[in-house]
Formats: sequence, structure tokens, C-alpha cells
Amino acid sequence: MRIDIISVLPELMESPFQTSILKRAMQKGLAEVHFHQLRDWSLGKHRQIDDEPYGGGAGMIMMIEPIDKCISELKSQRAYDEVIYLTPDGETLTQKIANTLSIKENLIFLCGHYKGIDQRVRELHITKEISIGDYVLTGGELAACVLADSVIRLLPGVLNDEQSALTDSFQDNLLAPPIYTRPADYKGLKVPDILLSGNLKKIEEWQHEQALKITLEKRPDILE
Ligand code: ADE
Repeated sequence: MRIDIISVLPELMESPFQTSILKRAMQKGLAEVHFHQLRDWSLGKHRQIDDEPYGGGAGMIMMIEPIDKCISELKSQRAYDEVIYLTPDGETLTQKIANTLSIKENLIFLCGHYKGIDQRVRELHITKEISIGDYVLTGGELAACVLADSVIRLLPGVLNDEQSALTDSFQDNLLAPPIYTRPADYKGLKVPDILLSGNLKKIEEWQHEQALKITLEKRPDILE
């Protein structure tokens, strides 16, 4: 999978891809992430990428021309499955969206800033708008990192068996059951006996029951 991320602050996104699982995914050649500084496609010597809104109002708007030039150049090099704009008014990111994107080949993420982008960019290039939640960030960069992480970890070979994404919370519309590791008794706080019993069938039943109970308590909205 290849992800091209367009932003005025690409340096903000470097470290998540330089550590741990995402770094290994890059090193193994399972994912490629390319950052593009939008100002490289800007107009004039001031490297302008934003301007005042027609009709007045507060805040600056990201101009169509630099974004169009950047996306058009990328599109001339390969076919993209989706051009995704990270914005608080997009569809809220879910595990299902991450699953769907994880089988794509080439993706563009466009990070918004200021008041947002000229509407004509959406009409011309954007195929999907994604929000990571009902709150406003200073820009789309952190949202792009969240989206990229949620997708890349699903690529075959990125996680090993023990880390398997199939047992994640949300994958079966259930939150994960409680988990424990040694010691079995810490200052009187005990690990449930069933987990020490060695009876795999009973353990799986217990875990499923617990997952159901926790989902009902915390997130009844995701239960089917
Ligand atoms: N840009 C600003 N806020 C955002 C959010 N919540 N999700 C995605 N992009 C954003």
C-alpha cells in the first residue's frame, strides 16, 4: 500500500512512522508513506496557499490551485483508489472504514488547515471525507496519522499472530474482554480462576460473556 499525505506541516507527522510497528511495516516494504509539502505547489515567492473567503467572514481558506496541482501530479503518476480529505465534517472513522481502506493500493490524504479548503477541491478530487471524531483539531495532520495507523496495522504481515488484528476491539462489534498477566495475585487482586484453569473452551466462553457484558455497559450502540 502507498499513502501520499499532502500537508503544510508534513514534519508534524514524521515520528509516528519512524517508530515501532509502523516503522517495521515500512522497512518490510508493506507500506510506503510519502509526504508532500503543499507549499511546493504554491503561487509566487511568498509560497501562498491560502486566501480570504469570498463573501467575507473570518479565517483563511486553502486555495484550489496548489492542491489541484499537487493532486493532479500524483494522479498522473499512478491510479489512486481514494482521495481522502481529513475534516471534522467528514464521516466518522470506524473500524469498518479502516478495514475497507486496508485492501486498497494507493491512497491520498489531504490535511486541511485554517477554515478549510475551497469547495471546488471537493468537487474536483475528493472521493471521501473522514473525521476522527466530533472535535476540532488545529489541522488534519494528527487525524491523517490516526487514519494511516488504523489502516497500515491491518495490512497482511504487519502484525504477528499474537498481535493479530482479528481479536481487536470493534472487529466483531464487541469490545475486548479483560486481560491479565503475571502475577496471578497482586496484593490480593486476583486473576479470575477460570483463566488459570487451562480449559480453553470454558475460557473462550468466559471471554465472550465478558466482552458482551463490557460492550453492553460501555458501548451498547455498537452491539448489533
Ligand atoms: N481536522 C480538524 N479536526 C479534525 C477531525 N476531528 N477529524 C479529521 N480532521 C480534522
